[in-house]
Amino acid sequence: MQRTLIWDLPTRLFHWSLAASFAIAWLTGDGDAWRSVHVFLGYLMLGLVGFRVVWGFMGSHFSRFASFWFSPKEAVQYLKQVATGRAARHTGHNPTGSWAIYILLALALGVGLTGILTLGGDEQQGLAAGWFSFSQIKLIKELHELMATAMLLVVLGHITGVVVESVLHKENLARSMVTGIKLAEPGTPVAHRHRVVAAVMLLVMLGFGGWWFKYAIDRNIDHPNGSVMEAPREGDAAHVKFVGPKLADNSVWRAECGSCHSAFYPALLPSRSWQKMMATQDQHFGSDLGLDAATVATILTFLVDNSADKHLTEAAFKIEQSLAKDSAPQRITETPYWVKKHREITAADWANPLVKSKNNCAACHMDADAGTFEDGAMQIPKALAATAVPLAIIKP
Ligand code: HEC
Ligand code: HEC
Repeated sequence: MQRTLIWDLPTRLFHWSLAASFAIAWLTGDGDAWRSVHVFLGYLMLGLVGFRVVWGFMGSHFSRFASFWFSPKEAVQYLKQVATGRAARHTGHNPTGSWAIYILLALALGVGLTGILTLGGDEQQGLAAGWFSFSQIKLIKELHELMATAMLLVVLGHITGVVVESVLHKENLARSMVTGIKLAEPGTPVAHRHRVVAAVMLLVMLGFGGWWFKYAIDRNIDHPNGSVMEAPREGDAAHVKFVGPKLADNSVWRAECGSCHSAFYPALLPSRSWQKMMATQDQHFGSDLGLDAATVATILTFLVDNSADKHLTEAAFKIEQSLAKDSAPQRITETPYWVKKHREITAADWANPLVKSKNNCAACHMDADAGTFEDGAMQIPKALAATAVPLAIIKP
């Protein structure tokens, strides 16, 4: 037996990049804060899978699918042999390990693709923005999470297998995936290092990472269908940028329903609420809106087409879900979801002169006009008292 190069550089780079991408993507899956990292790693994983498929035909001997193409029966048999401690040593991938690889590649592909769809439906961002609504994507999102969990289980199984094998055959398999070297009989096919391929791979990954985190995020290239808005964030010289779905607009609605208060986007109430409100427009919270039948019809069509029932945004979906099916609330601020979301806002914040009223959505939601109510677009104005003090000092 002699020390032989079994795993070429690209295979090792692929292996550890996929492992790191999956681990970090797993940790950054929840919430908004790390989304750009999570999404980046998802694209990276897809790219890595694509590379591995090509490399399965073009790589060194033991990286080629042909060298580890085993039947499921052989995989089970091998597992049994391991259980009895009599498994033969394989220089390349063993039959069970091979199946772990194929399953991981398939799952990584599935997780990546369902991730793109989930991002599109859930956040209306990315390549699939605008394809699905928040509720339509629910099942696919669950599939995304299910496949990620399955992937974690296979990874854990794979790690267990590596440990068991390493003990059984008294060799450190994890280290050989770092150095590429294993002990092998003379005459075993030696891998080519493929330094150039590995260097190109590394450059592409770094380049993609640099582009993603510098330019793509800055210019919101990853949100082609999103509406990008900018607003000054308090106490911060820089403007925050946030994106949301680009929702439909209507000038008649905006003019008529935005004159006394800011126009409340239709996605904030179900269609039955809007039907009732427009049918009683002559008694609108104590005033007669005095709209003619044609205007009422125009506005109502727009309201119904974009109502909460359509689940165009997360807020729409959650407001609609929080309501009893036969209720037609006339106030957004009385829907259970709204109440729940604003329960923790203090009396002082409501009393802030910049807020004044619960209906003044735009005081805290910079995207209130657009109707999207994204988490990233929310800020409670600081109490004015703090800034009022220095003014009082300056003025004699
Ligand atoms: C003549 C002024 C006026 C116009 C025009 C007007 N509203 Fe109102 N609207 C009010 C008043 C007053 C209230 C009650 C505000 C309060 O009590 O805080 C209100 C409240 C609402 C609320 C409830 C907000 C909440 O959640 O508390 C909705 C929804 C609403 N209006 C929708 C509309 C729509 C849709 C139109 C266009 C068809 C419209 N309004 C046009 C005066 C107006
Ligand atoms: C005083 C500031 C303030 C005002 C005014 C305000 N909100 Fe909010 N809103 C918040 C805060 C803070 C949250 C986040 C709560 C959380 O994440 O738990 C929030 C959350 C929400 C959400 C949930 C977003 C999500 O993640 O799904 C919606 C929808 C929403 N607000 C709608 C409205 C509407 C509509 C109005 C006007 C009728 C309004 N808000 C007025 C502060 C405000």
